[in-house]
Amino acid sequence: MAVERVVLVGFMGAGKSAVGRRLAGRLGWDFYDVDTVVEERQGRSISEIFTQEGEAAFRAAEVEAAGDVLARSRVVVATGGGWPTKEGRLESLPPGSLSVWLSVGAREALRRVGADAVHRPLLDVPDPAETARLLLENRYSYYALADARVDTEGRSVDDVTTRILEILEEHEFEYGAE
Ligand code: S3P
Repeated sequence: MAVERVVLVGFMGAGKSAVGRRLAGRLGWDFYDVDTVVEERQGRSISEIFTQEGEAAFRAAEVEAAGDVLARSRVVVATGGGWPTKEGRLESLPPGSLSVWLSVGAREALRRVGADAVHRPLLDVPDPAETARLLLENRYSYYALADARVDTEGRSVDDVTTRILEILEEHEFEYGAE
């Protein structure tokens, strides 16, 4: 089956949104950022959802939003950093999905996200470096379930996008799609 959906996973600051938008542009597909879909539907920021209702409420909204956009075709979907870190998430993507892990180290991730407490309340803590390191350690095995991995350290958004396009081509070739 031909790939009709690219699902980007990885830690905060991996570049899922920037790369996803660029990739969708190059493919002529639609781009969805699950965090943005959640914020639009709820009419408030991720940090407001965390503060007012707690992380569990955010996770429920995230699962619902991800389910809706992942049902579409000819889309690139940037998931939130926590979405794939549950049993069965990446394993049960709809047919025609190519999941790509954009990998980044904790130090570089923190450098990239800076002090964006509005979208990353999990890192708005007294010791963000240690928190990021631990989160990444716990999540590694989930991200590793993706079909492909592209390391983003020292690579531009364009480079990473081009690499994903190559992977897509290899994949189509492998599965005999036209
Ligand atoms: C989270 C990542 C964020 C956002 C929320 C929780 C996480 O998305 O969904 O703050 O658990 O890693 P990005 O990965 O787009 O920063």
